[in-house]
Formats: sequence, structure tokens, C-alpha cells
Amino acid sequence: MNHLRNLNSITNRRILLNARRFSYAAKEHSSLNRNELAKFAAIAETWWDSEGPFKPLHVMNPTRLAFIRSVLCRHFKKDPCSAKPLEGLKIVDVGCGGGILSEPLARLGATVTGVDAVEKNIKIARLHADLDPTTSSIEYCCTTAETLVEEGRKFDAVMALEVIEHVTDPAEFCKSLAALTISDGATVISTINRSMRAYATAIVAAEYILRWLPRGTHEWSSFLTPEELVLILQRAGINVEGMAGFVYNPLTGRWSLSDDISVNFIAFGTKTKSIE
Ligand SMILES: C[S@@+](CC[C@H](N)C(=O)[O-])C[C@H]1O[C@@H](n2cnc3c(N)ncnc32)[C@H](O)[C@@H]1O
Repeated sequence: MNHLRNLNSITNRRILLNARRFSYAAKEHSSLNRNELAKFAAIAETWWDSEGPFKPLHVMNPTRLAFIRSVLCRHFKKDPCSAKPLEGLKIVDVGCGGGILSEPLARLGATVTGVDAVEKNIKIARLHADLDPTTSSIEYCCTTAETLVEEGRKFDAVMALEVIEHVTDPAEFCKSLAALTISDGATVISTINRSMRAYATAIVAAEYILRWLPRGTHEWSSFLTPEELVLILQRAGINVEGMAGFVYNPLTGRWSLSDDISVNFIAFGTKTKSIE
């Protein structure tokens, strides 16, 4: 237990030390939060350690992929049972981190671009993707959604999983996600509800009791309720058409999709045809 406590305080100290000396997407944009980015830079080497700080994302990945695969196949009229159901779709994974989501999307046949504001994350993502010919085609770039918008990039589907709670201006961030989405394209966002249950489980239990995540990973006040997210997306020109919750079963150690959106949830929306 002491050993774990020491490790945690070392991680926290590293986060603070790294706050002023890490490399990130150079341009100052409204959605970038330097302190939040420093937290990810400090633990970048651990992206592919399935027992490390990103363990919750690794364990959650099959469940969130099941949701994404299902909504994208339905929306783009693809056969979910084919070997490469996302073939022909251009997808951007905004805030891709080490590529935990980008890689399986590429394996499902999508043409994937992964972007992250932290250069270290992109380096790790590139190295890992190059280990497998089916993922080496992923385009990784240290940049932001806003810069992609300025470059005029467009995608059939835009993913931002577990990112919006780390940006300074969620409404501006959603406007950028909408601008990156083609007309009638899809946007998928996952995040944590600003509920008391989320405070108890995603912060107190995950960071302080179970120590799944370094302390301070999440700020409760930065979470959005599902209603707030729907409204922000609507104002950006994205109509939310589906939503699901993720629930954790401590007995099996697995996550599953649920109607319970009180803690972790994922939303799927489509871009209003008239907005470009
Ligand atoms: C919790 S991680 C999620 C990683 C990945 N989306 C996943 O779910 O596996 C959040 C990531 O978003 C990145 N990030 C935070 N703010 C960002 C921004 N404004 N633009 C791009 N990336 C950002 C961080 O560097 C970090 O890699």
C-alpha cells in the first residue's frame, strides 16, 4: 500500500514538473488547456501498458468500439458483419492519445487520422501503429481540431472520446468538431457526467481508492451533463441521435453498454445537412 502511495506521489510530482516543459501543438487555441495537456505528457510512455494509468480506457475500448461500430454502420449503411465494416470511411480521432481507439478503427477498415495536442502522445502512437501493417497507414499528427479546421480538413466521422472534459471551452471545441464533419456526417463524443455519482466513482473511487488513475486526472467541475452536451452540440449544428452509458461490473472487471448515463456516457450525432 505504501509502495502504491509512493508511486502515486512520484507520478503527481512528475506531472507538476512536466507542466512547464513539454511540447504541444504550438498554436494557442481556445480549447487547449496547458495544465490538462501536461498531465497526459507526464504519463505518455504508459499509453500501451494495459495495467498502467490508461487501463480504464483499454478495458472500456471493446465496449465503446461496439457502440461506434453499430452507430456508424447504421448511419452509413455498412454491413456490421463484414470483415472491414468501416471501409470507405474517413475518420478523425481528435485527442487520440497513444492511439487506443485509432488502431481498432483502422483494423475495421476506416482511413484514420489521429490528432493530439501532445507531441509525446503522437510519437508513441506512431511507434505503436508501425508495429502492425494494418495500422501503419494511420495518419498521426500533433495538432488540434481548430488547426485542422483552418486547413479545411473534412471527415465522414469525427471521434472525440474522453477529451471534452480536458478542454477549456467545450462549446468552441464542439464547433470545431462540427466544422470537421461533412454534411450529414457523424460525430461521436464520450465523457463523464457532472453527477454526484460520477464524483464518487470516477474521481473518489478511481483516483483515490482504487488508484486506477493518477490523482487530479479529472476535475469534477469540467464534466458536462448529457443535457449540456446535447445543447452544445445542437448549437454547433450536430443533432444527437443516440446516447448510451457505460457501466462497470466489478465482478467481471468488464464494461458494458447501458441506459444508465449517470457516470460515463457516449453520444452519437449527425451534422445538420444545411450547415457547412
Ligand atoms: C483521456 S485522453 C483520451 C485519449 C483517447 N481519445 C482515448 O479515449 O483513448 C485525452 C487526450 O486528449 C488530448 N487533448 C486534450 N485536450 C486536447 C485538445 N484541445 N486538442 C487535442 N487533444 C487534446 C490529451 O493530450 C490526451 O491525449
